[in-house]
Amino acid sequence: MNITIIGTGYVGLVTGACLAELGNHVVCLDIDQFKIKLLNSGAIPIHEPGLEEVVARNRDAGRLHFSTDVVASVAHGELQFIAVGTPPNEDGSADLQYVLAAARNIGRHMVGFKVIVDKSTVPVGTADRVKACVQAELDARGERAAFSVVSNPEFLKEGAAVEDFMRPDRIVIGCDATPEGERARNLMRKLYSPFNRNHERTFWMDVRSAEFTKYAANAMLATRISFMNELANLADQVGADIEAVRYGIGSDPRIGHSFLYAGAGYGGSCFPKDVQALERTAREYDQELLILRAVEQVNHKQKLVLGLKIAKRFGHDLRGKHFAVWGLAFKPNTDDMREAPARVLIKQLLDDGASVAVYDPVAMKEARRVLALDLSAGDMARVRFAVSPMDALTDAEALVIVTEWKAFRSPDFERIKLALKQAIVFDGRNLFRPDLMAEAGFEYHGIGRSI
Ligand code: UGA
Repeated sequence: MNITIIGTGYVGLVTGACLAELGNHVVCLDIDQFKIKLLNSGAIPIHEPGLEEVVARNRDAGRLHFSTDVVASVAHGELQFIAVGTPPNEDGSADLQYVLAAARNIGRHMVGFKVIVDKSTVPVGTADRVKACVQAELDARGERAAFSVVSNPEFLKEGAAVEDFMRPDRIVIGCDATPEGERARNLMRKLYSPFNRNHERTFWMDVRSAEFTKYAANAMLATRISFMNELANLADQVGADIEAVRYGIGSDPRIGHSFLYAGAGYGGSCFPKDVQALERTAREYDQELLILRAVEQVNHKQKLVLGLKIAKRFGHDLRGKHFAVWGLAFKPNTDDMREAPARVLIKQLLDDGASVAVYDPVAMKEARRVLALDLSAGDMARVRFAVSPMDALTDAEALVIVTEWKAFRSPDFERIKLALKQAIVFDGRNLFRPDLMAEAGFEYHGIGRSI
């Protein structure tokens, strides 16, 4: 099938590359000439395991093209995916200007039937606004082409996006109950048929329910995390181990073990933004989502927990003290530092007068960029960008782990002990067992592990 993807950000690029991998002819359109040039030169602008290979393979096979040419790109696809960003407005609502601009471009240049697929995370009711924009452009030029707007939210996780796309646990599609909607449904069914051969993975629903499903999923996942983080903080007080509790409750299939890890708080571009946007939607309907407000507040507090534990151990005056920080990206397998807990921790330590040596397996370049934005030049001078995990440890009072990269899971504890001034570990992701750490001679501070 011929497909156009509008927006080559994270979602658009993964979707475009993976749809090409399935044998479709895909054009990825972006207004950012620099990015298109980069993609055409064979590089990719983000770190995502496996993506570079999929892009290269399909580009070389002539199934994947990158373009800034709006007219030709809109003409290409019978399916037009809108995958542009929806950043938060000041009030937390989603900024739809890029989505609606994409819709207007489609309406301005389309000829013949098009299925317009909302892939971006957009508030309930956006498909109607997209439809109105396209129709207004068609009317303005007296064009009577038919079209249908479909909601097909994405559930990819950064760091596992290609795998998630190629082996989806579900595909949510919302279509209108109109003849155009039916036509769109058939094309969407054909597009996703490779995933439904053995198992039907598509959930068909109305457009608004599909839009809502995306927010409900992220809000539920964020809720689980904040709930566990709050319990972990109490576990610290009452002398319980949150990991044991996780096993204890997770064995109930209604709860399940996964996505119940207490830690240094959730980050990334999705949970914080989507939780806020859903709250904002509720307010538009005079409803308050009390649980989600708490989810957000708990997460905000949770990002401070590691710093508070350090202050409890070393005092608030950290002048002359130096700390090693392992893990800067908001989670492993990405260089994304949006809303990353490490940013909050580093600021806390510097505000209390400490200096830090930081290390991340892939986010060092991104860290230099975002920390320069977060910090004053004076504070930045107290940040050393280490070249390896061991290099970060030199002369540090303690090691602080913020992201659970695989490379940090089985380190050489003897070498760590030798490099650190004191054998102290603050583990924001509960990578190690407190009893084994004690045996190995460490003072170990986990999250919710009663120390
Ligand atoms: C999230 C969702 O998991 C995806 O399904 C969704 O498609 C995506 O948002 C999106 O809306 O685009 P992502 O932001 O890539 O994906 O990252 P997650 O793996 O969900 O992790 C989010 C944060 O939660 C990370 O900071 C992670 O460290 C934290 N987390 C996760 C925990 O603190 N505890 C857990 O048990 C799991």
